[in-house]
Amino acid sequence: MQEDGSIRILDNKCPHKGGPLSEGIVSGNYVYCPLHDWKICMKTGSAQGGDQGNVACFTVEVEGDDIYVFI
Ligand code: FES
Repeated sequence: MQEDGSIRILDNKCPHKGGPLSEGIVSGNYVYCPLHDWKICMKTGSAQGGDQGNVACFTVEVEGDDIYVFI
């Protein structure tokens, strides 16, 4: 979940060396990879701070008990 309450789904594979982003720390709109602390934007999937790479990310909508993932 992002800072604004919206939900994003990211591939669980860091663009650096495949670290498990699901085990990273989320702060604002970013997730920090637990292996080498790369900062990944959850809106764009892009590595930040001069690091290069992207991870697939998807928009999610929640309507009642239903969850829609836009792939
Ligand atoms: S594997 Fe994620 S920062 Fe290295």
